[in-house]
Amino acid sequence: MEIITTVPDMQSMADRQRREGKSIGIVPTMGFLHEGHLSLIEVARSLCDVAVTTLFVNPTQFGPAEDFGRYPRDQKKDERLAESAGTDILFVPAVKEMYPDGYKTYVVTEEISAILEGKFRPTHFRGVTTIVAKLFHIVKPHQAVFGQKDSQQVAVIRRMVEDLNMDVQIIVAPILRESDGLAMSSRNVYLSPGDRKNATALYRALLFAKEAAGRGERDAKVLRREMMAILNEAHPTAIDYVTFVHKESFDEVLHLEGPEILAVLAVRFGKARLIDNMMIPVSPEDRS
Ligand code: PAJ
Repeated sequence: MEIITTVPDMQSMADRQRREGKSIGIVPTMGFLHEGHLSLIEVARSLCDVAVTTLFVNPTQFGPAEDFGRYPRDQKKDERLAESAGTDILFVPAVKEMYPDGYKTYVVTEEISAILEGKFRPTHFRGVTTIVAKLFHIVKPHQAVFGQKDSQQVAVIRRMVEDLNMDVQIIVAPILRESDGLAMSSRNVYLSPGDRKNATALYRALLFAKEAAGRGERDAKVLRREMMAILNEAHPTAIDYVTFVHKESFDEVLHLEGPEILAVLAVRFGKARLIDNMMIPVSPEDRS
């Protein structure tokens, strides 16, 4: 595995690979890698000739009161893990490399960036779309792999790629979970031992929705009420949202209609803000 730290070096490496007819896959990450990230690297590796993992804690996607300063970092361990999962090139730029003095340009995807996550983190997606657009220009990938864990991020990036005619295929990989159902996340280290146990409520609430929809419940309000009850039993600090949306537009739905609807939620336990989601299959209504 080769480690590259500057933009010109990464761009010329990408040019060289393309000249040789190699396909490039990118897995953008903020590091502190876990098995969820590694599963994305394995997908990139299986699809492309060259797997590029990027490691960059992107300051522009954190709000002023958020956790940029204390976001967990362990570059040496990340290097080992990224290599073991099959990374060919690890791109690890410094903040000044990506945002030199005088930096002024941002990519904004309207509307979808302003709802749900965007409501609680108003400048978050502007930072995500900006850094992902920059990484695409630097790494020049044919395919880019993202996790369904951040479902709204996927929808925002798909919108950006389509609207800006970016020549990159977006691949989405499933959520990897701990054995008790908690979705893997770099931020899980913020959970106290008690909250760590309680945090399984997110998965249990989502499973409840899936089961209830399977039994024929179609009223989002009814499902939401039960999900809130499951979450509240876990004594969260706050429930930011629990809702049902179309997976591409993220438009909210009140009545579940097929073939599938995405259940999304965000819950805070102390300093940890957890997000999770689950695709809910909705069979056609029985009209007999
Ligand atoms: P980060 O949170 O490090 O996540 C990097 C990628 O790993 C994202 O595509 C995310 O959805 C995926 N991922 C995280 N947890 C996962 C899990 N449990 N199972 C499967 N995939 C998982 O998302 C970001 O970084 C940043 O916003 C980034 C896109 C890198 C831009 O800075």
